[in-house]
Amino acid sequence: MLRATALRNRVWRSATWLGLADSQGQVTDPVISTYQALAEGGVAMIVTGLTSISAIDATIGGECRFFDDTFIPGHRRLTDAVHRCGASILLQTAMVDGMVDELSTSQVDAVVHAFGAAACRAERAGYDGVQIHAAHFFYLSKFISPLFNHRTDCYAGAAILPAILSAMRATTSPNFLITMKINSTDEYPGGLDQNRFLEACHLMQGLDAIEVSANGTSRRGIRAGVNEGPFLPAAARLASEVDTPVVLVGGLRSVEYINHVLADTSIAYIGLSRPLVCEPNLVLRWQQGDTTPSRCISCNGCYSTAGHRCVRQH
Ligand SMILES: Cc1cc2nc3c(=O)[nH]c(=O)nc-3n(C[C@H](O)[C@H](O)[C@H](O)COP(=O)(O)O)c2cc1C
Repeated sequence: MLRATALRNRVWRSATWLGLADSQGQVTDPVISTYQALAEGGVAMIVTGLTSISAIDATIGGECRFFDDTFIPGHRRLTDAVHRCGASILLQTAMVDGMVDELSTSQVDAVVHAFGAAACRAERAGYDGVQIHAAHFFYLSKFISPLFNHRTDCYAGAAILPAILSAMRATTSPNFLITMKINSTDEYPGGLDQNRFLEACHLMQGLDAIEVSANGTSRRGIRAGVNEGPFLPAAARLASEVDTPVVLVGGLRSVEYINHVLADTSIAYIGLSRPLVCEPNLVLRWQQGDTTPSRCISCNGCYSTAGHRCVRQH
């Protein structure tokens, strides 16, 4: 249970950009059918692919956008379809790129305000909540990285994150979920390291969940029972320090390993991306007793297919 949202199990679909929106960034039927298949396949929570909340943002190609009210009807169709299948859904609010040091304080205030407005719009579109995307070197993860942020004003360090959280809380109702995905390390010398990651998370009092990732996002060569869960140490450490539910994502492939994570650490949920690209019904398959590990071989072929489908035949 997260606030008023009951989750049917502990598996989240981690945000996965589909590239299926139209040229304006509007939700299309293929976007809806992809998420509906995931909801039918048993996951408890779906986080949408990154969705830009700024009209002047860069684009990564075919991602959904959400910077004014014209986007609400399409997202409402999406949330209704997912809810009908018993899953919950968070909008991953993001900016792809932008300046950090060069912005005046009031220009950063405007960015913060835009995230707040997007959360309000997401609630009106039927989302159970949002996920603030502060990972994978998209804009907010750069903004909190010492490699990019040399500011000395009120937005030094990771201060933009609690400002966004406050702006979102101010525009949404008390049961609306506000979560965050964050790098546990930038994996660059002088970048965000584990201490700064923990400090940033401690700033986010009142968040409903923190999903722990890192740069080097979708690691190749993950094998069940061999090298699963590369970000487990950072996520387990965070979960031991905060009351906020922690979601571990990255390289989780087998029921045995997932059960170990959930039983032996304080991590509350696990996130899957490529295993659900490979098999949208993986959770149902496991629940029905076929507990063979995910068939995903972490080849990352999905990144280069239309709709980010699996390149292998099953
Ligand atoms: C095709 C594709 C698109 C992705 N898009 C996003 C995204 O929009 N936002 C995000 O936070 N992570 C995105 N990711 C990263 C995943 O959410 C996840 O963190 C990563 O793939 C590791 O988990 P896995 O081993 O279960 O795939 C994407 C991954 C893939 C394969």
